[in-house]
Amino acid sequence: MTSVMSSGAQAPSLVSELIRPDQVHGSLYTNPAVFAEELKKIWFTTWVFVGHESEVPEPNDYVRKKLATQDVIMTRDREGEVHLLINRCAHRGLQVCDDAQGNSSSFRCPYHGWTYRNTGELLGYPYNKGYGGKGKLELGMGRVPRVASYQGFVFGSMANDGPSLEDHLGAAAGEIDRLVGLSPRGEVALDAGWLGHKTRANWKFLAENETDGYHPQFVHGSIFGVTGSPIGALYSDASTAVTRALGNGHSENDLRPEFRNFAEPMRWFGTTPDRVPAYVAAMEKAYGDDAQRRMIEGAPHVMIFPNLFIAEIQVFNIQPVAVGECVQYSTAVQLRGGEELNRRMISQSIGSVGPAGMLLADDTEMYERNQRGVSMLDPEWLDVRRGLIRERVDENGFTVGAATDETAMRGFWKHYRSLMEA
Ligand code: FES
Ligand SMILES: [Fe+2]
Repeated sequence: MTSVMSSGAQAPSLVSELIRPDQVHGSLYTNPAVFAEELKKIWFTTWVFVGHESEVPEPNDYVRKKLATQDVIMTRDREGEVHLLINRCAHRGLQVCDDAQGNSSSFRCPYHGWTYRNTGELLGYPYNKGYGGKGKLELGMGRVPRVASYQGFVFGSMANDGPSLEDHLGAAAGEIDRLVGLSPRGEVALDAGWLGHKTRANWKFLAENETDGYHPQFVHGSIFGVTGSPIGALYSDASTAVTRALGNGHSENDLRPEFRNFAEPMRWFGTTPDRVPAYVAAMEKAYGDDAQRRMIEGAPHVMIFPNLFIAEIQVFNIQPVAVGECVQYSTAVQLRGGEELNRRMISQSIGSVGPAGMLLADDTEMYERNQRGVSMLDPEWLDVRRGLIRERVDENGFTVGAATDETAMRGFWKHYRSLMEA
């Protein structure tokens, strides 16, 4: 809560002077006090994407994840329920679990041997007479208080109460549905393994860039040229694709208008139906007349505030470390029942966002140069006005701009401001 002055007026929030409808101040990316405030008011309040249920498919599976600066263990208990435990011993605060993943019904702290069930409950502590006997301590591992999942995507909120995950996702839920609707079984998995890219830039540069349709032709010109990819044209002045602010800080580059114009199934994936016949047959069996539309319109390109980015065939998870550092985790989407596509999704992901990938390296170079540039003092403001003069509101009440407009960024900042001023 913002402190209340004796007059009864609210003290101005740290950021209220720093965000304008068409400009944002550079210090938002460099001031450690802003970052500390963001942890409290955004990362430890709102719903944050943590992982996917397919990463812990069996009872007692666990995998270590991040929720901002917090090391969490995503576990599945023996009843099948998913938990997010905070990786800290209730005794002296040690990090309990060191393995990246595994299968165990309990965790044992290596320091003094306290053990915990994979629900966080304290099971035992050695030489218990020192505590008056067995079962005397009302302690346990910390738990992310609210855990919810949507189509298998697991989110955590460190706030005890607040809007539900469905309320937070709002229209963005439909974009997740679109992705899942490309699986003949109506199910995706994110179990191909995650790669983490440490990035020396503020997390917001990444979040803003994910649906910035202005940069691809310039930053990714080389990969589009080498691979002969037609994607660049989707982000040009001539494109009929749109940028849409979906509310709650979420946004998308909606490429469907372009793909509908071409009306070619699987074009979104850079292929043709005859090259993936088993997938096409499975889609037609599953969705009948609607299969063609799905295969023409393709997968979403959506940024879900604050850290989940679905980029057609990849999913990204952005987690902040410090004001000038974050880690961007990425993995290839796997469509249950879409094996022909899955293999290519993995190889394309290695080529674009892998260790020597040609796409993410270019973006990361921009993020890090952005961070270096913005620490220069003059000019103080960053400009986000592109397309303000031509925005419209669509039939669902969402603000829509051209493919290359900064409509998404303005939606991000509007929601950011509302959270930071709460
Ligand atoms: S710190 Fe974990 S048992 Fe002592
Ligand atoms: Fe990019």
